[in-house]
Amino acid sequence: MQKKYLMTPGPTPVPAEVLLTQAAPMIHHRTPDFSAAFAQSIEGLKYVFQTTGDVLLFASSGTGVMEAAIANCFCAGDKVLVTRNGKFGDRMKGISEAYGLNVVDMQYEWTSVVDPGDVAQMLQDNPDARGVIVTQSETSSGVLNDVQAIGEIVRAYPDCVLIVDSITGIGAVECKTDEWGLDVVMTGSQKGLMLPPGLAATTVSEKAWRAYERSDLPKYYFDWMKYKKNVEKDTTPFTPAVSLVLGLNVALGMIREEGLDNVIARHARLASATRLGCEALGLKLFAPTEGRGNAVTPVWVPEGVDGKAIVKIMKNRYGVTIAGGQDAYEGRIIRVGHLGYFGEFDIITTLAALEMTLAELGYEFERGAGIIAAETVFMAGVGA
Ligand SMILES: Cc1ncc(COP(=O)(O)O)c(C=O)c1O
Repeated sequence: MQKKYLMTPGPTPVPAEVLLTQAAPMIHHRTPDFSAAFAQSIEGLKYVFQTTGDVLLFASSGTGVMEAAIANCFCAGDKVLVTRNGKFGDRMKGISEAYGLNVVDMQYEWTSVVDPGDVAQMLQDNPDARGVIVTQSETSSGVLNDVQAIGEIVRAYPDCVLIVDSITGIGAVECKTDEWGLDVVMTGSQKGLMLPPGLAATTVSEKAWRAYERSDLPKYYFDWMKYKKNVEKDTTPFTPAVSLVLGLNVALGMIREEGLDNVIARHARLASATRLGCEALGLKLFAPTEGRGNAVTPVWVPEGVDGKAIVKIMKNRYGVTIAGGQDAYEGRIIRVGHLGYFGEFDIITTLAALEMTLAELGYEFERGAGIIAAETVFMAGVGA
């Protein structure tokens, strides 16, 4: 037997309470029991999104709500500014193009943050833009983009919506949907919500509903209005992912019990320990100091070491699954996820497995340094 540790930024580990709830016998979705759990889940989602506006829940992976955001907000040929500094910004560009939008491409290096000043300038140059699209927490790079600052800028344009992919942001970093003027914020179940894959949620502001009224792009399963009308009656337009919704209700209860601020602070602490632990091994962080999220820590693979071998050995010999790099960074970076149901010893375990793996691959460093650095973060304030 080998004990397994899932240290990826999605799917993420699922707490036993949530798993057990999902294992209960099936119930029908047109029942008071389901409606009560569904209504409570929507309220819980409003809490994590920090919104009093509409939240809609779909049976899909995250990409479903990304596509829904485009289909529901725009008309063919609409101009949108798509910021992209990683794989998921690229995906928003691809979806926008698939729907015939006129994409103003704001491309950055994966190691850079999106500059809000550039967004301000691009909106001045393109006052007819109907949307700005930003990935808050870029899972491919670990970069955190400043959606608060971008929200301030977009707020001044009444016909332009700000669409935020916070699929690995929600529950890991601050994301104040209403206060920051974010019109559409999206997340997925297999991330900070501590569930298996299969659910995705989106917020819709009043400005986004105005965009919806004007939108003429084709939509059916992902038509926001179908969901809104049903949410108001504590139900769903189509058969929901019943077991996942019941699990979501339990997971959101756990988040409420810990308190969102504490959840985010825990993520910050785990991210800090992971970063310092990796740096103590002489590894270089991939994301720049001015924009690092709490969901995932990508680090450069050291010269002369096979990046794919790190991932393979950690998984096969030690049971610790981390993620490799994506696209151009395959084999060049490794990514440790710490998003959702994670605690201190997940980080210590992962750093220990990483140390043993690097030692096996002939990389020279001070053994134990990563673990000590992480312990130091976890013991801050203890006085030892
Ligand atoms: C930032 C971000 N956006 C979008 C997605 C796409 O979500 P899914 O794979 O659930 O469709 C992911 C998933 O990894 C993500 O991390």
